[in-house]
Amino acid sequence: FFFSFFFLLLVLLLLVLSYSGVIPNNLNGAVGGSVFFTTTVTPPEKPFLVVAWSFNSGSGDRNVITSTTSDVIGPGYENRITLDRSTGFLELRNLTMNDTGEYSTVVTPDGGELMSGACRLEIFMVTPSSTDLIEFNSSVSLSCSSSGSPRSYTWLNGSSEVTASEGVQITDGGSTLTIISVTRYDQGPFRCRAFNLVSHDISGPVSLSISFGPENTNMTLSPSQEYHEKGSDIILSCSAVSRPPAQFQWALNGALLSDTGPELRLNNIHMNQSGNYSCQAHNIKTLRNETSQPSRVTVLERVSAASITEPPVTPVEGKPVNLTCDAAGPFFTREWRKDGSPVSPGSNIILHDNNRVLSFSPLKRTDSGEYSCTVSNPASSAEAKYKMTVNYGPENVKITGPNEIKVKQTLTLICFAESTPTATYIWMKNGAESHTNSAEFTKSQVELSDGGEYTCQAGNNITGRTVISDVHRLSVQGKKETLSAGAIAGITIACLLVVVAAVLGAKYYLRRKGK
Ligand SMILES: *[C@@H]1O[C@H](CO)[C@@H](O)[C@H](O)[C@H]1NC(C)=O
Ligand SMILES: *[C@@H]1O[C@H](CO)[C@@H](O)[C@H](O)[C@H]1NC(C)=O
Ligand SMILES: *[C@@H]1O[C@H](CO)[C@@H](O)[C@H](O)[C@H]1NC(C)=O
Ligand SMILES: *[C@@H]1O[C@H](CO)[C@@H](O)[C@H](O)[C@H]1NC(C)=O
Ligand SMILES: *[C@@H]1O[C@H](CO)[C@@H](O)[C@H](O)[C@H]1NC(C)=O
Ligand SMILES: *[C@@H]1O[C@H](CO)[C@@H](O)[C@H](O)[C@H]1NC(C)=O
Ligand SMILES: *[C@@H]1O[C@H](CO)[C@@H](O)[C@H](O)[C@H]1NC(C)=O
Ligand SMILES: *[C@@H]1O[C@H](CO)[C@@H](O)[C@H](O)[C@H]1NC(C)=O
Ligand SMILES: *[C@@H]1O[C@H](CO)[C@@H](O)[C@H](O)[C@H]1NC(C)=O
Ligand SMILES: *[C@@H]1O[C@H](CO)[C@@H](O)[C@H](O)[C@H]1NC(C)=O
Repeated sequence: FFFSFFFLLLVLLLLVLSYSGVIPNNLNGAVGGSVFFTTTVTPPEKPFLVVAWSFNSGSGDRNVITSTTSDVIGPGYENRITLDRSTGFLELRNLTMNDTGEYSTVVTPDGGELMSGACRLEIFMVTPSSTDLIEFNSSVSLSCSSSGSPRSYTWLNGSSEVTASEGVQITDGGSTLTIISVTRYDQGPFRCRAFNLVSHDISGPVSLSISFGPENTNMTLSPSQEYHEKGSDIILSCSAVSRPPAQFQWALNGALLSDTGPELRLNNIHMNQSGNYSCQAHNIKTLRNETSQPSRVTVLERVSAASITEPPVTPVEGKPVNLTCDAAGPFFTREWRKDGSPVSPGSNIILHDNNRVLSFSPLKRTDSGEYSCTVSNPASSAEAKYKMTVNYGPENVKITGPNEIKVKQTLTLICFAESTPTATYIWMKNGAESHTNSAEFTKSQVELSDGGEYTCQAGNNITGRTVISDVHRLSVQGKKETLSAGAIAGITIACLLVVVAAVLGAKYYLRRKGK
């Protein structure tokens, strides 16, 4: 059956090809692509009786692609073709170079005349000599293979035409493009364009995979500081420009560690993990290595137990005092502050022993305040506080109050002395101690006997000093001796009236006696 079929087909084709072609154009395809064979036959109302496609590679054998007489699909065309039975159109997919050749068709409409046609399919492709390339090391040749008649060629790199230059050669009549030393920018896609007198066709794109790097190997430390507190966590990250992506290995003080990967996490770090860290980037294709700049990591123990040693004696103005600051752990600096502001050494303030001892010699009362000492290393710090009160006095003991007072009034005398702590007071009158030992001396219902010389003695039981005030004189006046001007005038007038009356009375009496 097959033989007879082929025979019939051959005869028909030979008959038909010479005079009428129902396939309009020759076709071009790219490797891996597909082509669509159309015919000029008007689709009939009834389905075609026969639609058959065959292929001749040029070697003489004619292979059946498909035929509706027996519903066959030729070997090698399974899953590669789609036949539209109503139009006779054929799609051929997954093209290879072996698909180059002549395609012919025979269609027989129901009740109509047999029609046939043929066309050529040409395939061309770009074949790189190698696709696995290494920047600067590799050269590559791209050849444009066309299955068809000799043609002229041009090359496209992306969308721009390639011109020959140093390092870029175009040979073999243009069908070969050679890049002497590839760079990462030569990845393409490259396509070749093939021309003949009537048409030009463009191949499918070919991209080159060019390995390069590693370059710019860069390590970053997070947090990005040299000093880290013991027990903290550090992340070291490494990056490099590389294709394929670089593989990383970590090194401490130049010696490779077993750690790999772009990130090195150091958790709960210990002092013995201090050192210069670096990362090495390795490219498995280029076999090149690059090591980052080292970053120094220093792990420090936390500063703790900061303290200010209290002076062994109570601070007293005029005496020397030392405040001593100590802490545990490695520390680099000590800073003293008074009431929040840095202590600046001055006439009576000296810092000894690398700021450990804050020495006052002698103490001034203005040195009272809250002192803090901050002990730090670059990873941590600790602070201690001490409130210092400078004791002094008493000084400037003064009594305030009236110097004169009348009987029955209330007397209030106040004694004041500058002193820290607050002074204790003892009142004395005319040299004798009174029973009042507060700052205020009061007496209601003053008597004449309360007049006299008052003094107050201020005492400070820390400085051990006592100071006696100046004498305060007080005079007390009685009520009788005090008459107002009106009263005196009244009495004077009354006396005068008495005298006048007496004189007049005496005259009257003498006149009566004289009669
Ligand atoms: C044929 O091509 C199609 C896409 O056109 C693709 O999905 C399929 O894998 C190819 N088959 C073969 C055998 O190459
Ligand atoms: C093309 O044909 C040759 C010889 O017939 C064969 O060896 C080769 O495998 C074929 N190539 C493809 C892609 O089918
Ligand atoms: C291809 O084009 C890129 C820019 O798109 C250029 O850097 C490269 O050198 C070109 N390569 C060749 C071989 O022309
Ligand atoms: C390393 O990376 C950091 C952060 O990504 C960047 O700021 C720095 O410039 C890089 N250094 C180098 C030498 O590339
Ligand atoms: C670092 O010190 C820790 C704790 O003392 C210890 O467990 C660890 O083995 C030390 N590592 C090295 C590399 O010395
Ligand atoms: C780390 O590098 C510094 C210079 O950057 C060097 O002084 C120091 O000795 C190095 N430390 C170690 C442990 O190698
Ligand atoms: C790249 O070229 C250099 C020198 O020509 C050679 O030593 C090296 O092995 C080459 N690299 C690869 C991956 O072939
Ligand atoms: C690059 O690094 C790899 C792995 O770290 C090592 O095996 C290789 O010897 C190194 N190559 C060079 C040239 O240093
Ligand atoms: C304070 O410290 C300094 C220096 O250590 C020392 O010379 C001085 O005698 C100390 N003074 C007192 C009062 O302790
Ligand atoms: C000083 O006097 C106050 C009150 O008068 C008393 O509370 C304190 O204990 C005394 N201090 C000393 C050291 O004697």
